[in-house]
Amino acid sequence: MSGEVVIRFARLDDLDFAYQDGYIPGEVLKRKIEAPSVLNPDRIEDILIAERNGKRVGYVRLEYLWSIVPYISLIQVLPDFRRQGIGKALLRFLETFLRDTGNEALYSSSQADEPEPQAWHRHVGFEECGFIAGINDGAGEVFFRKSLR
Ligand SMILES: CC(C)(COP(=O)(O)OP(=O)(O)OC[C@H]1O[C@@H](n2cnc3c(N)ncnc32)[C@H](O)[C@@H]1OP(=O)(O)O)[C@@H](O)C(=O)NCCC(=O)NCCS
Repeated sequence: MSGEVVIRFARLDDLDFAYQDGYIPGEVLKRKIEAPSVLNPDRIEDILIAERNGKRVGYVRLEYLWSIVPYISLIQVLPDFRRQGIGKALLRFLETFLRDTGNEALYSSSQADEPEPQAWHRHVGFEECGFIAGINDGAGEVFFRKSLR
């Protein structure tokens, strides 16, 4: 499929799209929306949007462990648009932003019983760095680190 991919920071009107996975409860979402919107309504820096031909096709939600260590809480490309370089374009934009703001590494994670996203993380340069047992109905979560140097 052709068409230029544009990656940008989210705006308030992107939030329904960027939370469509439904993992985040409504009250938590409301707080997240209100906090950055007060500071900078036109640029929500912890959400990235990928567009192709003017249509939203993917997103990243970023969080900060201990408020300082960048961590991808979710990267999602719509099923019809996977394996076309959109995930990598989102990651590249995020890495540049994080490097420019002085970060040395990016963290991410994946459910331990989901081999596909784990393989993607390794393919795009993440290295496994840890495991939390007992969550995800017992399956656990694998953590990854990618150096930004
Ligand atoms: C993981 C995900 C974001 C990848 O996005 P994508 O747009 O399909 O990935 P890209 O097309 O940018 O792939 C980049 C590279 O990884 C490779 N790749 C893609 N999916 C892969 C997979 N499942 N296993 C191994 N390599 C993979 C591509 O071939 C490409 O390789 P290249 O750079 O050598 O050409 C997407 O599959 C997705 O939304 N999955 C569901 C949500 C999810 O599991 N998110 C991760 C946990 S938070």
